[in-house]
Amino acid sequence: MHKIHIAAFVAFAAFAVGASAAERPGHAAIASAHTLATQAGFEVLAEGGNAFDAAIAVASTLSVVESQKSGIGGGGFFLLHRASDGKNVMLDARETAPAAVKESQYLKSDGTPNRDAALYGPLAAGIPGEPAALVWLAAHYGKLPLSKSLAPAIRIARTGFKPDKSFLEAIADHRAQISRYPGTKALLMPGGEVPKVGWTFRNPDLAKTLERIAADGNDGFYKGKTAQLMLASVKATGGDWTAADLANYKVVEREPLRFDYRNWKIVTAAPPSSGGVAMEEMFNVLSGYDLDKLDRPHRLHYIIEAMRRAFRDHNEYLGDPDFVKMPLGTLLSPQYAAGLRAGILPDKATPSAMLPSAVAHDPGMHTTHFSIIDADGNMVATTQTVNTHFGSCLVPPGTGVFLNNEMDDFALVPGAPNAYGLLGNKANAPAPGKRMLSSMTPTFVFGPERVGVIGSPGGSTIITQVFEGIMAFMHGDSAAQIVATPRYHHQYLPDVVYVEPEAFDAATQKALTGMGYDIKPRGHWGFMNVVTWNLKTNTLDAASDPRHVSGLGEVK
Ligand code: DON
Repeated sequence: MHKIHIAAFVAFAAFAVGASAAERPGHAAIASAHTLATQAGFEVLAEGGNAFDAAIAVASTLSVVESQKSGIGGGGFFLLHRASDGKNVMLDARETAPAAVKESQYLKSDGTPNRDAALYGPLAAGIPGEPAALVWLAAHYGKLPLSKSLAPAIRIARTGFKPDKSFLEAIADHRAQISRYPGTKALLMPGGEVPKVGWTFRNPDLAKTLERIAADGNDGFYKGKTAQLMLASVKATGGDWTAADLANYKVVEREPLRFDYRNWKIVTAAPPSSGGVAMEEMFNVLSGYDLDKLDRPHRLHYIIEAMRRAFRDHNEYLGDPDFVKMPLGTLLSPQYAAGLRAGILPDKATPSAMLPSAVAHDPGMHTTHFSIIDADGNMVATTQTVNTHFGSCLVPPGTGVFLNNEMDDFALVPGAPNAYGLLGNKANAPAPGKRMLSSMTPTFVFGPERVGVIGSPGGSTIITQVFEGIMAFMHGDSAAQIVATPRYHHQYLPDVVYVEPEAFDAATQKALTGMGYDIKPRGHWGFMNVVTWNLKTNTLDAASDPRHVSGLGEVK
């Protein structure tokens, strides 16, 4: 036991110095939002693949079985840990704006924001990043060819599966937009009706598109037949993509954000995700308090005040690092955190209106996250999305690909809120080739005795949900406890603490209300998927969010 503990410390240090980790779990764990995707991951591991091959299998299978939430027509962030040399890297597969992007495309003739154009149809879609991530993973980190790691997704797309209630509800919610596009309608509403439970969904065109990617890599999607079909459909429906927009798409390897909090080392998403920066700011503020010594209302008070301040800066400064200069050195410095702490009163909420800046947003639920640790200790945390359900609702006929509506994550029209009520500024204004800001926050937490792989969907609540998941993990909670932890969220504006009904007991609620907090219940949280590794006992633990029915966290 002692020996393992020491070895674990070597692994822990390795993430800083790039040395190799000695310890391996000897078995694997996967937690994803869908049973078939988790099984696909294990199938590929059984074929001799590693966590990165399994990630390709899980991600591509989610493209098929959870196509309302993510897919090869979208993008995401893949946080990777390679056990052999301790390398941590973030694969940025965020979508990019096409060259033709301009503000007027998102305005009605009377100059008011055209929300429909921002959310549905070709103008809503960014150039997909997900296929390039899968190709990159296979070429640089996996052990298997794409023909093997994409095989489960191809098989399920062709033979079909029975969608769960959430999939069918997403169709019902979007029947009007789906009906606009014949390719989408034929796929999702056979006979013009919303299908009932028990329906088998087959997407043979998606199987063929995945086969082209398996055979030709990036060229199977960004050039040739798939590209031609996408370009023709985007043009026919009033959009403006060029062959160069597709051919020039590149996945970017970025240094993850790394910071310490007490005994823990956190490795998380860097911009164009806002999540890591916001979380680091929150942890920096909180490191000045002895939270364990405080009663619950005061502990929550300081946490909520940290959230408020981090989200103010998130709204103000963050965007695509390849396009905007962000004052990260300042925002993430201990002096800045001390300044923020100095403005927090011990017993009173700070009204957001008293903090400079004025940007509001309100979140929603449609993305997906999965976590993997393999037998060698390789780890993957991936959050991927098409943005809102079924993205733009445009499936270019012949491709089976649901094009995202990620353009809405840009501040498309100054002063106009996006789907989550988000108002941005210049840092997140659209520009040709630019990546839109994201809240997706796949995260690794390394401690002396335990390692956690954590992430969640949830729009802007991703950041606070992951933060609360990390706190629960540090507290020693099991994977099942972490994903079930009752959630709360503050995002600066609106100046409200959103809570899951059972998050605060009556006394805590009363104390916080007395400090000036406006507390409102909110229904939609999760779907967190967590895998943890206890280095002392060398055991893995995995769990999916109990708020949702079809998830599966499995250790094999
Ligand atoms: O990248 C983002 O921040 C959003 N497109 C994520 C959307 C999301 O999480 C939806 N809800 N679950």
